Amino acid sequence: MEMISKHLGRYKNYTFPMGFTSAEVIDSLQSFEIRDSDLFLVTYPKSGTIWTQQIIISICELGGGLNKYPNNMETMPWLEYLWVKESYPNRPSPRLFSCHFIADLMPPQLKDKKAKIIYVMRNPKDNIVSYYHFSKICSDLETPKSFEDFLEDYLQGNVGSGSWFDHIRDWHSKRDQYNILFLSYEDMVLDLKTAVKKICTFLGKNLSEADVEKVVEKSTFKNMKEDPKANYQFLPEIMMKGVFMRKGNIGDWKNYLTVAQSERVDRLLQERLGDLSLKFIWE
Ligand code: A3P
Repeated sequence: MEMISKHLGRYKNYTFPMGFTSAEVIDSLQSFEIRDSDLFLVTYPKSGTIWTQQIIISICELGGGLNKYPNNMETMPWLEYLWVKESYPNRPSPRLFSCHFIADLMPPQLKDKKAKIIYVMRNPKDNIVSYYHFSKICSDLETPKSFEDFLEDYLQGNVGSGSWFDHIRDWHSKRDQYNILFLSYEDMVLDLKTAVKKICTFLGKNLSEADVEKVVEKSTFKNMKEDPKANYQFLPEIMMKGVFMRKGNIGDWKNYLTVAQSERVDRLLQERLGDLSLKFIWE
């Protein structure tokens, strides 16, 4: 493993906060046994992970097949975290996991296409702003000196989970190898009900219209922020000295990025991902 900075390590083409994962954990996942009923939620950080967790958990609760744990983080634990209990892999089916990894670090048996993956992507400008704020409150991440400094690190991939551009390209270009549903944070903000229905169809959960409405209600920003199982305020202050659920909207980047910075992101997007058929919603 190569050390990139005080907080960041790099191993197998993946940059990660050393407080969260390690080369040993990464290697161990190569022999992680996949079950057909497993579901993995994969995201680049700050793309709506805990939101999608709440949606998935609410769907499984109403549609049957949810094993209950004290909160969403324990119900749908991150596969890569150092403190993941050894018992997690031995849980009863169906197992739900979250993960920020690039495709090559995932358990190889996922390529058998039996277990499911939901990948959520967020526009990079709002992602930058959300990540900047999160880096200020999360003790395992480097506290940014300024927004400009953070932007530079982000665009160079010197943040946890590496380059956003690489993450998107990696999962998008390998999507045919997996049983995967791609969603965007912006589509979820603009039409949560349709997103919930898409997830239901993908998971094979036949929810009534009334139950779909219940999932939508439980997953609105306002209701989730008040839900102690879902809002991550249960994390100890030593890890998180602020709120996880900050604004939850599209377009906050306009309050942070200068015109020049925004144009730089546009250029990079064109250079790095221009050949992919991706559409982004910016406001
Ligand atoms: P902001 O910082 O822009 O508010 P992740 O869970 O991947 O870390 O992503 C966190 C982002 O998702 C935060 O964005 C957070 O507010 C937003 N989020 C969480 N729950 C949400 C919800 N119910 N609706 C909209 N956004 C939500």
